[in-house]
Amino acid sequence: MAIIPPHIVDDIMQNSRIEEVIGEFVQLKKSGSNLKGLSPFTDEKTPSFVVSPAKQIFKCFSSGKGGTVVSFLMEKEHYSYPEALRWLAEKYGIQIPEDKPKTAEEIAEISERESLYIINEFAKEHFKNNIYKNEEGKNIGHTYLIERGYTDEIIKKFELGYSVNEKDYFTSIALKKGYKLNYLQKTGISKIKDKKSFDFFRGRIMFPIHSVSGRILGFGGRTLFTNKKIAKYFNSPESIIYNKSEILYGLYFSKSDIIKQDNCLLCEGYTDVISMYQSGIKNVVSSSGTSLTKEQIRLIKRYTNNITILYDGDTAGIKASFRGIDLILEEGLNVKVVLFPEGEDPDSYSKKISYEELQEYITENQQDFISFKANILLETEKKDPLKKASLIKDLANSVALIPDQITRNVFIPELARRFNITEDVIWEEVNKSRNQTINKINSNRKFKPNSNFNNTVKKESEENDYIANSNVKDPEYFNEYDLIRILVLYGPMNLNFKNIDDRKEKATIEISVAEYICNSINEDELRFSDKTFVKIYELVNNSLKENTFLKLSFFKNQSDQKIVQFISEIELNKHELSENWINKKNIFTNSEKDKLKQAVIGSVYSFKSSKVEKRIKAIQEKITKLDSTKNSELIELLSEQVALEEIKKTISNHLGRIIIH
Ligand code: CTP
Ligand code: MN
Repeated sequence: MAIIPPHIVDDIMQNSRIEEVIGEFVQLKKSGSNLKGLSPFTDEKTPSFVVSPAKQIFKCFSSGKGGTVVSFLMEKEHYSYPEALRWLAEKYGIQIPEDKPKTAEEIAEISERESLYIINEFAKEHFKNNIYKNEEGKNIGHTYLIERGYTDEIIKKFELGYSVNEKDYFTSIALKKGYKLNYLQKTGISKIKDKKSFDFFRGRIMFPIHSVSGRILGFGGRTLFTNKKIAKYFNSPESIIYNKSEILYGLYFSKSDIIKQDNCLLCEGYTDVISMYQSGIKNVVSSSGTSLTKEQIRLIKRYTNNITILYDGDTAGIKASFRGIDLILEEGLNVKVVLFPEGEDPDSYSKKISYEELQEYITENQQDFISFKANILLETEKKDPLKKASLIKDLANSVALIPDQITRNVFIPELARRFNITEDVIWEEVNKSRNQTINKINSNRKFKPNSNFNNTVKKESEENDYIANSNVKDPEYFNEYDLIRILVLYGPMNLNFKNIDDRKEKATIEISVAEYICNSINEDELRFSDKTFVKIYELVNNSLKENTFLKLSFFKNQSDQKIVQFISEIELNKHELSENWINKKNIFTNSEKDKLKQAVIGSVYSFKSSKVEKRIKAIQEKITKLDSTKNSELIELLSEQVALEEIKKTISNHLGRIIIH
């Protein structure tokens, strides 16, 4: 698409009225010279969202967001900058000059597109009306939906409908209205056999599939016949407006709740989405029976980085869905999993229990993907020790897909604990798998310099410079790097810890990431091996004594170019656990804080255990080389080893606690 010329941008900004645009999303009331309403970004009960028509800006006091009409559209609709401008240009009738005039084919395609949308809209209205106005629709369709427990409110919200069970009931009405058979066919609603047209959907409950902006892309139709020979669902075929791999059912209704909850629940079918929504859990979508695609995950990513997959209690295809989980990880999203009780799916279960119980069930039963995958695999391959190695490899491969180092780091101790092996083994597996991927991408790059691979290559090489530049086989270096990175990037942020001081049982104290890390390291008198890390650590540690926090710019002004280089590298590769951390300064949600805390604790743990492990190894080496006559030295070494083993055991006990000295 052509770049929008600056004078047109001015024109758009001059003509747009922020109060009108925001008024389409939020109910605004006059308050002095401003307008006020409930924030569309949070769940607030008292309005703190202010729009100033005079200044043409908005400010949301509950989320801290604010800006122009363009910033609003980018925040609320997740548009890019040019997308927001184009949206406004369309609304205010401002022509954006295209760099070349449209060809006849392009014009034809636009009109075909529009025609298909118009027909789908007409069909949706027709099916909807059948539910309330057509005898068969009322008796069969409406009755069925009510018996299944759907309210009229939800039927109307999701625009459910009914297709009359006659050969060409809909098609003949549409043709009489003047819709072209050619387009009717392309939507898939009408078919032709022996030169006669007929309806594709007959005697079915109709689920319209909405685009993100609410246009109808196609339909799913559930049969009301119990005849096993016909498919339970018919679905519209793909067309120039309907690309199944890029659509998620329910997203149109759930997107604002997905943003608010910062989480997307993913289930299998139309009925799951509607039932969950009706019971009050609204941040839900479904992939509608197909396996999850990359495009669908990217669609979710526009609204949240967190996906929770809801599985039927008796889904046979759980193992097949692991590919979907890996795809989610690869896209850098966090994935959790909830398994419903035997014989229940989100649809049936949400009708049995209350909203609160359902909410509680989901919170209490969600597992991270490592535990979930490990459980399923361990169950199917029970008690076969030979399988253990391949299980570990399988899980390490999944962890290796996670683009963010901090997040990867959280899972490694978890895996080690679960399989009762040392972290080193897992590190090695994860690194091996990452190296293989990088090699694969590099060799692909040689052959396909201009293909889509460029995107992948760019992404991978941005993140893996560290792996490419350093000795990946050395977990000690890896851990030092990771810990310093967290120290520098997140040092000033505050975390809550339980105070283990005996007198003040259960008290919570707030402590910065930098203080936590430095306390933990100084306590055990541990040191970094890498010279640059030693210097950076000293800078931070000294600044804490003076009660100051160091900004990235402080490090970048150091004369030691190795420090500057390291800081620039981590700044470039910064993969925030959440964008909020950069944008909103100190406002983050509890779940984000939890995640940072987990990452900090995990990194300190990995750092400490790799240090101790290294010392133990060195001692063992000394022992094997020891002259057999030097008994006293042997005893000394052995007792040191015992002491270290003891420390190793206590490391994990101390994590997550703060001891006030
Ligand atoms: N599906 C499909 N074609 C089929 C069966 C299923 O497209 N023949 C898709 C539908 O999107 C359906 C989803 O897979 O919603 C899940 O299938 P299923 O659990 O069988 O259907 P439900 O939606 O649960 O329908 P119901 O509860 O009415 O049986
Ligand atoms: Mn079902």
